[in-house]
Amino acid sequence: MTRQLTLITGADRGMGFELALELGHLGQHILVAARNADKGNAAVAQLRDKGIEADSLELDVTDAKSIHQAATTVTQQYGHLDILINNAGIALDNYEKPSTLPIDTIRKDFDVNFFGVVMVTQAFIPLLRQAPFAKILNISSAVGSLTLASDPTTSIYQHSAMGYQASKTAVNMFTVDLANELKTTNITVNAVNPGWVDTTFAGGGGNKTVQEGVARTVALASSPDNTINGTFSDTDGLVPW
Ligand SMILES: NC(=O)c1ccc[n+]([C@@H]2O[C@H](COP(=O)([O-])OP(=O)(O)OC[C@H]3O[C@@H](n4cnc5c(N)ncnc54)[C@H](OP(=O)(O)O)[C@@H]3O)[C@@H](O)[C@H]2O)c1
Repeated sequence: MTRQLTLITGADRGMGFELALELGHLGQHILVAARNADKGNAAVAQLRDKGIEADSLELDVTDAKSIHQAATTVTQQYGHLDILINNAGIALDNYEKPSTLPIDTIRKDFDVNFFGVVMVTQAFIPLLRQAPFAKILNISSAVGSLTLASDPTTSIYQHSAMGYQASKTAVNMFTVDLANELKTTNITVNAVNPGWVDTTFAGGGGNKTVQEGVARTVALASSPDNTINGTFSDTDGLVPW
């Protein structure tokens, strides 16, 4: 049986690497997309040591040329893509007031978390169309939920990282609109909330392990079912937009 081909952005460390490890163990062929080729190659070496089929792909999600080159490489070497996981992300603002948060910080969050997701997805849709059925999984965050952020009874109400939060809200809107556009095609589009996960990203303070953080994404990516479309979910069920 041909292995499913899965591209994960930001797969050299954190949850991206854990996704590569777990989906690789489940038999998928992993394209480790990393902006730093050395880090990508090191991750691939670790995966291959564990018997996983993996290749490295240099990809900076903020760089249109890099994205174009990566899509060209996948076209030439594989001719299709089954699963795209938009995982790369940054949060440059933490507990800063929206009234004074520098515009440059907000723009940098958006460059990776939103424009990066849109650019990468648009570049790889032609390859996803070549698969029998294909999935786009956008790693979002519950802190991007307008419903939760405006509800004083939630912990997210207390959170203040407006640039990061808005970039994930924007990813959610991209998910909804793209899922709607593609609903009669072979491609589904969903957003996932990992929770607060203990990676470098969370400053080592997350209350979930990386395994817990990737569990919902692994479930969606490995399911033989491809009818779930246009949702935002985590391991507890649907997350409000
Ligand atoms: N950790 C949490 O608590 C949490 C909660 C909710 C959502 N999330 C989301 O989950 C995803 C993964 O987070 P994580 O905790 O695993 O973060 P992480 O450990 O900090 O890893 C982030 C990854 O993104 C990559 N990256 C950053 N900028 C990039 C760019 N311009 N092009 C390509 N790759 C880039 C990094 O590459 P380098 O190694 O080159 O820096 C790294 O591989 C992110 O989208 C994040 O927003 C995380």
